[in-house]
Amino acid sequence: MRITIIGNGGREHALQWKLAQHGHAVAMTHASMSHDGHDAELVIIGPEAPLAEGIVDRLVQQGVRAFGPTQAAARLEASKAFAKEFMTRYGIPTARFAIFDSYAPAERHLQRADYPVVIKASGLAGGKGVVVPRDVAEAHAALHAIMRERAFGSAGDQVVIEERLEGPEVSLMAFCDGETVVPMLPAQDHKRALDGDQGPNTGGMGAFCPSPLLTPGDIDDCASRILQPAVRGMAREGAPYQGVLYAGLMLTKDGPKVLEFNCRFGDPEAQVVLPMLKTDLAEIANACIDGRLGAQTVEWHAGACACIVLASGGYPGTYRTGLPIQGLDHVPDDILIFHAGTRQDEGGWITDGGRVLGVAARGSTLRDALARAYAGVSHIHFAGMHYRRDIGARWLDT
Ligand code: AMP
Ligand code: GLY
Repeated sequence: MRITIIGNGGREHALQWKLAQHGHAVAMTHASMSHDGHDAELVIIGPEAPLAEGIVDRLVQQGVRAFGPTQAAARLEASKAFAKEFMTRYGIPTARFAIFDSYAPAERHLQRADYPVVIKASGLAGGKGVVVPRDVAEAHAALHAIMRERAFGSAGDQVVIEERLEGPEVSLMAFCDGETVVPMLPAQDHKRALDGDQGPNTGGMGAFCPSPLLTPGDIDDCASRILQPAVRGMAREGAPYQGVLYAGLMLTKDGPKVLEFNCRFGDPEAQVVLPMLKTDLAEIANACIDGRLGAQTVEWHAGACACIVLASGGYPGTYRTGLPIQGLDHVPDDILIFHAGTRQDEGGWITDGGRVLGVAARGSTLRDALARAYAGVSHIHFAGMHYRRDIGARWLDT
């Protein structure tokens, strides 16, 4: 098929690689460009922003087949307030919360709350709209920054103040056709910049899958208690959910609870989950669009996959770009290199973003996959390059 992918980060390069493996002709389009998709037989949307703006509604109106939720369905990610109230309506486990659309009542609520809180700008904020304050003073400062200083613009017009949960985090994504839900392998991201989960939050410094934290039985349980009720609920509310539904879960002592829903593949999760998918992704996407996912086989490779993100010096703060990347030619063939923030000039590849490359490898075990991915990393260099040395390490003996 002729397929267009919207977006151009690591996730989208993983999508392109996966589709090319099955003989499809794939073009990529920058997410910020308006897109008519007329020559594509299938359009797959990577990032949340175009989905929240209604790109799928537009493409479908033009008669283009698009894999991803409509604007109404993408509210599960685009409005955390909507998502929280939705979860309440359908009994989906999540942290206790309150929603505010002005500062003074939110401020009063903070003074009364008898539990540690998390403060979230309700709208899309490029992954930066969540503050986990260390103390009461920080909580007040965060609320002020979001609602008074408008640090995230209109994304902070509404805030969710919720109970802080504890436990390890797992990303469970699923294919959805509006009715049927097929979970993917569970994955784990590493959000902090530095080893030992230290340093600032990032877009993700590495990932692996499958996560040992969810057994196949746990996945079935999450499907029936979280993913299926969500898809059933959206259908009942007149916004059937087609595409990838991503549940960010915290495994608390009271069971898995939803931290957030995303309306797309996770990044870097896509860079480890797609290499584990055996079935042609275009076949699955078409089955989702046509509402026949229930009859579609979705098969996975055995073993594990790991991905190490190579970031620019200074990321997630300020960093330089335009630095030459050395060694890509020397990386063995069984290592997957997903370009996240690169550009080509006459001399070859140069850096062009905070997260520059994802280096992924499959192996018979997590230990094996990690060893291969890190061996791949050892060939690559650019000035200031930094990456975590401990992706997956905590979970090797789980
Ligand atoms: P979100 O974008 O809502 O997933 O939040 C980003 C990150 O903030 C999550 O991956 C968690 O590490 C943390 N977080 C969000 N909500 C909570 C919560 N209720 N309790 C503890 N940590 C949270
Ligand atoms: N890895 C987290 C996300 O894609 O939102």
